[in-house]
Amino acid sequence: MSSENLGLALRMVGVGKRYPATIAVDNVDFEVYAGEVHALVGENGAGKSTLMKMLAGSFNDYTGTIYVNDKEVRLSSPSIAKSYGIGMIYQELSLAQPISIAENLLAGRLPRKGLFIDRDKMVAQAKRLLKTVGLELDPLLPVEDISQHEAQLVEIAKVVGTHPCILVMDEPTSALSKEEVERLFDIIHKLRNTGMAIIYISHHLPEIFRIADRVTVMRDAKRVATKNIEEITREEIVQMMVGKSIKEFYKKESHPIGKALLEVKDLSRYGFFHGIDMQVHAGEIVGICGLSGAGRSELAQVICGIEKADEGTIVLDGKPIDRLTMAQRVMLGLGYLTEDRKLEGLALRIEMDENILSAVIPRMKRGIVYNKRYGRKMAKELVEELTIYPTDLNRTAGNLSGGNQQKLLLAKWMAINPKVLILDEPSRGVDVGAKMTIHETIERLAREGSAVIVISSDLPELVRLSDRVIIMRKGHFTKIMDQHECSEESLLLAANTEVEV
Ligand SMILES: Nc1ncnc2c1ncn2[C@@H]1O[C@H](COP(=O)(O)OP(=O)(O)OP(=O)(O)O)[C@@H](O)[C@H]1O
Ligand SMILES: [Mg+2]
Repeated sequence: MSSENLGLALRMVGVGKRYPATIAVDNVDFEVYAGEVHALVGENGAGKSTLMKMLAGSFNDYTGTIYVNDKEVRLSSPSIAKSYGIGMIYQELSLAQPISIAENLLAGRLPRKGLFIDRDKMVAQAKRLLKTVGLELDPLLPVEDISQHEAQLVEIAKVVGTHPCILVMDEPTSALSKEEVERLFDIIHKLRNTGMAIIYISHHLPEIFRIADRVTVMRDAKRVATKNIEEITREEIVQMMVGKSIKEFYKKESHPIGKALLEVKDLSRYGFFHGIDMQVHAGEIVGICGLSGAGRSELAQVICGIEKADEGTIVLDGKPIDRLTMAQRVMLGLGYLTEDRKLEGLALRIEMDENILSAVIPRMKRGIVYNKRYGRKMAKELVEELTIYPTDLNRTAGNLSGGNQQKLLLAKWMAINPKVLILDEPSRGVDVGAKMTIHETIERLAREGSAVIVISSDLPELVRLSDRVIIMRKGHFTKIMDQHECSEESLLLAANTEVEV
């Protein structure tokens, strides 16, 4: 589809946004046609989310001029932005937790009968919206009862339901399985063909080549280039993002494997997973591969004590931990990096150093008063190792870009010097360079004798990191593959293979 004939839906001219200590967007020109999918890429902290928040009306102090459908507008509040037809799906999910899916989907426009909400109508409308994203959930379920990937799809349905003329998606696929990504791409194509302008932020370059018509690259708050997707290669994009050629890809090192630090026997949580047996040893990185809904995160949550097992035992370094709370398990050296950094991971309103030290402080305090100086020093070293930017420990975590929040979360678990660390989607939302840093850090942990479990939907990541990969399907372990057997293709095939259990 040649979108040029539909005209420009959006024109941002010389726009800028400054935070107290940072220029996040610096004199950027950005144009999007109606009926095109326009990818926006750049390293963590490049300014992508800020540029889009500007469009969504989050700031009343931006500089420059914005035109929507050729009309000059001042997008100084979210309601003004909405009134011009701008729909935004945020990088960090924004669904309200305790209320129902339907109320979330229809927030602000619930159907009414006199003074009251028309429940039947609400359910019917919500069902219709859910169907647009291929979900068949009961609209009356509270949002806190659905999984992260379902929540992501609900969020998309919610915004699409307001019929925006410009739709912004900030890393919409980071919580989705392969099949759901396909479904989302279908939805995007359909929306584009109705003449909607779609801005799509992602660190996943193959996705961009599949769905974008054009791509804009940002670096250090500035626009580097805008290109038609046929006129550019993956390598060229990466080079523009980082301003130099990429470092050589890191190779897996192997190290001696020691005693079993985590032993799971016959573990079940009814309805989620059944009869799981697993041993993870010192120095070992075990990958868990599976489609979303296979039970991977639920297993991790039971091991670390967020959820209860119905059967089975968990032993940490020789000590049964089944009866311990999560906090007690953390004290013994069991860490869990969640796939959902906002809900269970970081406290966005408190400072970086407190976030980093939040898991280790109870242990440092044991008996004696906790040594604040030592804590700051440790936090500082982790910020350096993980190249978290900005480096100022007094900043609140919410000030960091998405990828830097992810690194901060990893720092928090590194700080406890874990015996066993379970990482659920460790490089979600991070750029190429940050991913490498995260992988190096995971490698260091194993080298220094931790037992590591990596749950990931990113197959190259599993191949690169794992000593062996366990395939999980519909709540069962269906296959174990050694490092030399693992490739992207073999894992994908195994994860999709039906096995009698
Ligand atoms: N609320 C805030 N207060 C202060 N600085 C901020 C705030 N939000 C973002 N920044 C800074 O602005 C810059 C741009 O951040 P932004 O979130 O736009 O990056 P991004 O390109 O979306 O990165 P990512 O890929 O990691 O999500 C970063 O240097 C970031 O630290
Ligand atoms: Mg961002």
